[in-house]
Amino acid sequence: MIKKITLSLAVAALAITAKAQDYTPLKQIIGDDFYIGVAINPNQVSGNEDTKTILHNFTTITAENAMKPAGIIQADGSYNFTDADKIVNFAKENGLKMRGHTLCWHASIPRNYMKNADGTDLTKEELYAKHEKYIKAVFEHFPSDVVIYWDVVNEALNDGENEGRYRERSEWYRICGPEFISWAFKTARKYAPANVKLYYNDYNLVDPVKREKCYLMLKELVDSGVPIDGVGMQAHWSMDVTPAQIEESINRFASLGLDVQITEFDLTVYNSIHPPKASERQIVKYTLPYDVVEKAQADAYASYFKVLHENRDKISSVTFWNVNDASSWLGRGFAIRGRLDYPLLFDRENKPKAPFFSIENYYKSLK
Ligand code: G3I
Repeated sequence: MIKKITLSLAVAALAITAKAQDYTPLKQIIGDDFYIGVAINPNQVSGNEDTKTILHNFTTITAENAMKPAGIIQADGSYNFTDADKIVNFAKENGLKMRGHTLCWHASIPRNYMKNADGTDLTKEELYAKHEKYIKAVFEHFPSDVVIYWDVVNEALNDGENEGRYRERSEWYRICGPEFISWAFKTARKYAPANVKLYYNDYNLVDPVKREKCYLMLKELVDSGVPIDGVGMQAHWSMDVTPAQIEESINRFASLGLDVQITEFDLTVYNSIHPPKASERQIVKYTLPYDVVEKAQADAYASYFKVLHENRDKISSVTFWNVNDASSWLGRGFAIRGRLDYPLLFDRENKPKAPFFSIENYYKSLK
């Protein structure tokens, strides 16, 4: 009897698995256009349903948090690569490539990393020396045949029209000024093996104001010979983003001779993920039923993949930020506490959603 129950449970499990993956892999649908990637956490490499979805669909991965300074640098200043290595070993065993994320960011860095014991700031020279040691250790640790791209600087720009170009409230900026950006690229290049490509990564880069700030910053870096290979457009988009806006950003950045990557793709079903004021956060704090927005999201995703496909000569990789709606930073209530979202191609049970099939239909229409 127990055997019979175990057997039927096993059959049921197989049926679920088969159902969940009985579809053409995304990597096959998009063919040779670009690497197709996904951000993951160490719990998703253990052979569970998320692992199967990753292996079925993607050719590259990014550690969602495990390769950030806060994921590696301990409170006592030592380095611990345990979580990062789980992900890197998984990539190596399965022939996946990786984007390293990220070396210099104002967030996800241990508290007090940039401070002396008495709470005063390190000097610029002290901070550079401390972080150069870290960058060196990172490039010595991770295999360069697996981790082939790195986000060297993340989110150094302000968004608004009436703000300066750089995010002045970042501790990096406050201590070092804007020169920390060129310092970071030069330092990364000093230690990165020659095949590893180096990126500036930011969000809202389809917004005309921020696009221009980014373009000018990149142009100055390129013109002054700073070793930068490309720009990561994070692509935490909402459905009011137009394909024309995306294309304009890709062309503008590519005109500098830089590679373009889509590094953190997701598509919220709400109007904006960055509501400017806390009061507006309250207004948007509810959960839409998905069937109301499914078709619009499917159409939007297809129109975005059309523009990515048409510009594939300028784009080397497209990465989704998380595997499915359950693991998404938006879906688990991180952006707006308690509010569910449905931003990805796979639902909470790893089943492909309408946007997945609209992308497939777009690619079929090309044949
Ligand atoms: O590890 C702790 C865990 O022990 C604790 O139980 C839990 C309770 O809140 O927190 C856990 O850490 C959180 C971690 O996510 C894992 O869920 C951190 O507090 C939280 O700050 C962290 O947020 C991450 C965020 O970056 C900040 O680093 C998100 O997962 C991650 O999706 C998000 O990713 C960023 C990109 O790096 C840069 N671009 C924007 C993107 C989305 O915000």
